[in-house]
Amino acid sequence: MNFNLTEEHLMIRDAARDFARNELLPGVIERDEKQKFPTEQVKKMGELGFLGMMVDPKYGGGGMDTISYVLAIEELSKIDASASVIMSVNNSLVCWGIETFGTEAQKEKYLKRLATGEIIGAFCLSEPEAGSDATMQRTTAKDKGDYYLLNGTKNWITNGNTASVYLVIAQTHPEKKHRGINALIVEKGMDGFVVGPKENKLGIRGSDTHSLQFNDVKVPKENRIGEDGFGFTFAMKTLAGGRIGIASQALGIASGAYELALKYSQQRKAFGREISKHQAIAFKLADMATEIEAARFLCLKAAFDKDTKQDYSLSGAMAKLYAAEMAMRITVEAVQIHGGYGYVKEYHVERLMRDAKITQIYEGTSEIQKIVISRGVLGK
Ligand code: CAA
Repeated sequence: MNFNLTEEHLMIRDAARDFARNELLPGVIERDEKQKFPTEQVKKMGELGFLGMMVDPKYGGGGMDTISYVLAIEELSKIDASASVIMSVNNSLVCWGIETFGTEAQKEKYLKRLATGEIIGAFCLSEPEAGSDATMQRTTAKDKGDYYLLNGTKNWITNGNTASVYLVIAQTHPEKKHRGINALIVEKGMDGFVVGPKENKLGIRGSDTHSLQFNDVKVPKENRIGEDGFGFTFAMKTLAGGRIGIASQALGIASGAYELALKYSQQRKAFGREISKHQAIAFKLADMATEIEAARFLCLKAAFDKDTKQDYSLSGAMAKLYAAEMAMRITVEAVQIHGGYGYVKEYHVERLMRDAKITQIYEGTSEIQKIVISRGVLGK
């Protein structure tokens, strides 16, 4: 094992850190309050190569490894977890899915524009009655010869309105259950595709989350990803990598809150000295630093597994479970260390606490990660 990051990794981490401080920090409180999508910032993320980091340069990507991706997501998430989920979904779910399983024509048509950030994508699996139990897809894609007729509703879709390209999971052969599901590339503007209202959320309020309706949308057959019936496996394989992105997001939210709490504790005085000099606070900081480091190693281990072509569904689930639970604990403590100041928006930690919550829910709840991990350790 080599615990040293390469020069290139350090450069990427520093570039992400600078971008987050210079471009994401200004206005982050206002975007959160007004639920404002970071349009300009996402455009710059595309220009800097953050939206297609791991995509082959021949399709407009950065050709970087997953470790670089973890480092960049952590840095962005320290400041703006809305920006980092937009980045994570575009990289891990949409670009990776098309690059790994798409046809050459799909890559030419969609991947190049997605990887450069010219357009962004969305991943549409969840439904009103199919969240954790993802096999129960009610959205249907009826085979009509040279096209699929798509009908149904998708819920809580990240990049729901801002995306131009949507990977939609739908049932084609109900009798085959999850083996009858397909993944289709749907374009915004196709007749019968309606974006529903925006959700008013607890956290990651800068990202736009919508329900989507498909009413007799004709999706050309050439937009199917993989063989007929590959859709559920596609979703599972794609989410396995997505979970490394969300684990890194949780890590970043926690380390951002910790850094603020550490700084505050060295400035704020109570009972005649800095509060960091009181053991009650010093021990909190010790626990926080240790848990964050543990989560960072889990994220990097999962990334290493992916980069070295080993199975990463187990290590990714472990990273996501641990990092998400840890982020919730650490952000609550960061608010506590700030006392009354932590409860007001100007100090950032209350936002990070609200943002942390979603990491225990999306791309598989913590309970789903425990299903995946327990099956892994039990060899089922
Ligand atoms: N890779 C490849 N195939 C996999 C897989 C993986 N990691 N995990 C499961 N599969 C396959 C299985 O092999 C099986 O296929 P076969 O029957 O052909 O062998 C099939 O999928 C069904 O698997 P299970 O029998 O294990 O299915 P299950 O219903 O018992 O459990 C589950 C599956 C793990 C619980 C799954 O439903 C799951 O992950 N649920 C959570 C869904 C989720 O993460 N949703 C997030 C929404 S997306 C999102 O949040 C994006 C965003 O915008 C931020």
